[in-house]
Amino acid sequence: MTPKRSVFLVLLTMAVALAAGAQTLVPNAGAATTLAQAKQPAGAAPRAAPAGSLAPLAATPAPVSSHAPYEAGDCTICHQSADPKQPGPITKKGPALCLQCHEEFVGVMKREHAHPPALENCTNCHNPHNAGFRKLMRNETRVQCTSCHAGIKKIMDTASVQHQALNIGAQCTNCHNPHASSVAKLLRQLPFDLCISCHNRDDVTDAKGKKLQNMKTLLDNNKEWHGPVAAKDCSGCHQPHGSDHFRLLMADYPPEFYAPYDPRRYELCLTCHQEEAFSTAQTTTLTSFRNGATNLHYVHLHQSGRGRTCRACHEVHASKQKNHIREGVPYGSGGWILKLNYKRTATGGSCEKTCHQERSYSNRAAP
Ligand code: HEC
Ligand code: HEC
Ligand code: HEC
Ligand code: HEC
Ligand code: HEC
Ligand code: HEC
Ligand code: HEC
Ligand code: HEC
Ligand code: HEC
Repeated sequence: MTPKRSVFLVLLTMAVALAAGAQTLVPNAGAATTLAQAKQPAGAAPRAAPAGSLAPLAATPAPVSSHAPYEAGDCTICHQSADPKQPGPITKKGPALCLQCHEEFVGVMKREHAHPPALENCTNCHNPHNAGFRKLMRNETRVQCTSCHAGIKKIMDTASVQHQALNIGAQCTNCHNPHASSVAKLLRQLPFDLCISCHNRDDVTDAKGKKLQNMKTLLDNNKEWHGPVAAKDCSGCHQPHGSDHFRLLMADYPPEFYAPYDPRRYELCLTCHQEEAFSTAQTTTLTSFRNGATNLHYVHLHQSGRGRTCRACHEVHASKQKNHIREGVPYGSGGWILKLNYKRTATGGSCEKTCHQERSYSNRAAP
């Protein structure tokens, strides 16, 4: 095959392939949004590629991916010389070399949030010839990403609760667009939609094999959404990359059903809710969950040894009733649901024979 003919073939393949629009990472759903403040340590720093690290890989073991123009064997597609032993310098510096053919990236890189290493040089992540990883990646995606994002690496290495979302499928690019995005933090969609895109099934289990709630079904069936859920801010309470708190939470919340009251253990709820409402025994203002002046939050939370956690009565994501009161609570290991039978009354509310005999409370005068 003459060099001329191979160039022609490569350009033809390229035109066909690129026209087909097979660039799955290019489309970007969702409008721009402002995310809650960053909660992770930054720790990103650009690094230069070590000399020789962009050279074509040897034929054995066979590379996992290979670049069509390199396969064509004509080094002058990018280099000044056709001699494969001495191809000489490249004809254009930085992304310009790649954008000659990957034209759609001209538009992609103009999105509101562009990733600095992609603006600087596509070869920060891709080998222009061939690679031991898919899509010409110079390394496994999460390794490539964390080579600059040391803060994320630290979380992944040390967090006691890990999130498999970082390890399965496309790893970091399950959630991030490595090139540019119209959503802040280079997210591929709004965070809520990202979370639901995986948490929309019944067979997701945690590290111990426990089934996790199907969040999509839960939210579809329960129309009273908790404030931050209604604001579509899952990362208002959860850390996407890993956490030292139960269920990837941002702050502490007791995993148990019964726990002695300690405000530090409710740090999550108390970031947004007033602590006095739970620690003041007598009040007529701090909470509506009171009988006269007796604070029933206090009564339940402070029972020695068997203090009820918020989950005994509240559903944290979404519920059918107002005040995010749940229908029932899981009881024992057999998956049995204990009905709460909570009812609003004209002057307060009541619970029927469940945890105890029927009880009612009154927090205002009868109308
Ligand atoms: C001469 C045209 C041309 C140039 C210049 C070019 N590419 Fe490509 N590239 C192609 C073609 C053709 C394909 C195959 C398209 C397909 O299969 O969808 C491709 C595919 C790719 C892929 C996907 C590989 C895969 O396994 O699916 C990546 C990543 C890529 N190119 C990166 C780059 C980078 C980085 C540069 C600049 C260093 C570059 N390209 C320069 C033509 C070019
Ligand atoms: C499950 C989805 C998801 C995955 C997978 C994911 N991220 Fe993120 N990432 C997010 C979200 C959501 C934010 C925005 C966080 C916020 O606002 O609290 C974010 C923010 C970031 C930030 C910005 C810094 C910061 O702390 O706000 C960096 C850097 C980052 N991610 C890198 C990575 C890397 C590297 C990987 C792979 C090891 C990865 N992410 C995997 C969802 C994800
Ligand atoms: C799609 C474009 C493209 C094609 C085709 C291509 N190269 Fe390259 N090559 C590059 C880029 C980009 C670099 C990095 C050069 C730089 O940053 O200065 C490079 C660097 C190299 C290096 C130096 C590696 C290092 O890290 O020092 C060698 C050797 C090389 N290429 C060999 C070849 C050979 C041999 C061919 C033809 C069989 C070829 N290349 C075809 C884009 C290409
Ligand atoms: C920060 C790392 C990084 C940089 C820099 C980068 N990419 Fe990528 N690129 C990725 C990752 C990760 C993927 C997806 C790999 C996967 O699907 O597993 C990808 C995929 C691609 C694909 C294949 C898309 C598809 O859906 O098949 C092309 C083409 C591509 N990149 C071109 C470029 C070009 C052109 C540049 C420079 C403007 C560039 N990349 C810069 C990380 C990067
Ligand atoms: C060559 C170094 C380098 C590599 C590799 C790299 N990044 Fe980055 N990344 C940066 C720099 C520099 C910034 C901008 C500075 C910052 O925000 O910390 C950045 C910013 C980000 C941001 C936005 C942070 C914000 O606060 O808006 C995210 C998210 C991110 N990178 C994810 C990734 C993912 C995912 C990968 C792998 C596909 C990756 N990065 C690979 C250097 C890198
Ligand atoms: C790519 C798929 C994927 C995406 C996207 C995703 N998750 Fe997950 N998530 C999983 C899988 C799989 C598990 C179960 C394994 C595990 O515990 O990590 C899980 C587990 C969890 C857990 C329980 C962790 C534990 O072990 O206690 C929480 C909480 C969670 N995800 C929240 C989120 C939030 C919030 C988002 C959006 C920022 C999100 N997930 C996005 C796949 C995903
Ligand atoms: C107000 C804080 C808050 C918000 C906002 C929030 N979560 Fe949670 N999430 C929690 C708490 C607390 C738990 C632990 C619940 C328990 O075990 O009682 C939890 C548990 C989970 C679990 C594990 C469920 C199980 O079966 O154990 C998943 C999955 C999850 N959240 C996903 C999400 C997603 C997706 C969003 C956004 C739609 C979201 N969360 C928003 C606080 C929150
Ligand atoms: C990120 C802030 C935030 C966090 C964290 C948070 N909440 Fe909320 N919560 C709100 C907002 C905003 C409202 C008001 C809107 C509504 O009714 O959901 C609210 C309302 C409530 C209500 C109903 C109040 C009413 O008047 O109807 C309950 C119950 C509740 N939260 C319980 C909890 C529990 C339990 C936790 C901890 C697991 C928690 N919240 C953590 C923001 C938060
Ligand atoms: C024994 C059941 C029970 C427990 C445990 C419980 N709550 Fe409540 N909570 C209620 C009821 C019932 C209401 C509704 C009161 C009314 O409006 O009549 C309520 C109301 C609320 C409200 C609305 C404002 C107010 O105080 O009236 C918030 C916020 C709240 N609870 C948060 C929490 C948090 C956070 C926890 C855990 C620290 C918790 N609750 C534990 C039953 C409980």
